[in-house]
Amino acid sequence: MKTDYVWMAAQMEALAEGVEYEVTNLANAAALLYESLEEINWAGFYLMRDGELVLGPFQGKIACTKIAVGKGVCGTAVEKDRIQCVPDVHAFAGHIACDSASNSEIVIPIHKNGYVWGVLDIDSPKKGRFSLEDEQGLEMFVRKLEEVLGL
Ligand code: SME
Repeated sequence: MKTDYVWMAAQMEALAEGVEYEVTNLANAAALLYESLEEINWAGFYLMRDGELVLGPFQGKIACTKIAVGKGVCGTAVEKDRIQCVPDVHAFAGHIACDSASNSEIVIPIHKNGYVWGVLDIDSPKKGRFSLEDEQGLEMFVRKLEEVLGL
């Protein structure tokens, strides 16, 4: 089934209405993503704190708490300030395995004032899970998230 990213962005806007706390909105965003996307096993956020990524709200198995810029898929997304869509994480040098069931991954930078503020990270047990359509849909979702968070 195709994911309705337009519906998801509208849901996010509705969920965040009148909610001023970042942690609350990120927690619901992680739950919305986890519930809406098929064949995924982790969805959540890493946020920039003191020059490194720290674990934020998520759904899925326990994850590593800190990732240096330039390390793993998440740190690479920050360093390059570019979406990382990895069809096979085992072929990605430096991939950080949190859940051994993960086989593909997509990481999207979140911006504030032109700087990377954090990343959205989604893992899947299926190789090649994320299409160009998913990449574009998730990018739109992140732009909506930046808006509702007031970044
Ligand atoms: N695989 C990530 C680490 C975070 S977990 O997937 C939740 C990475 O290589 O940066």
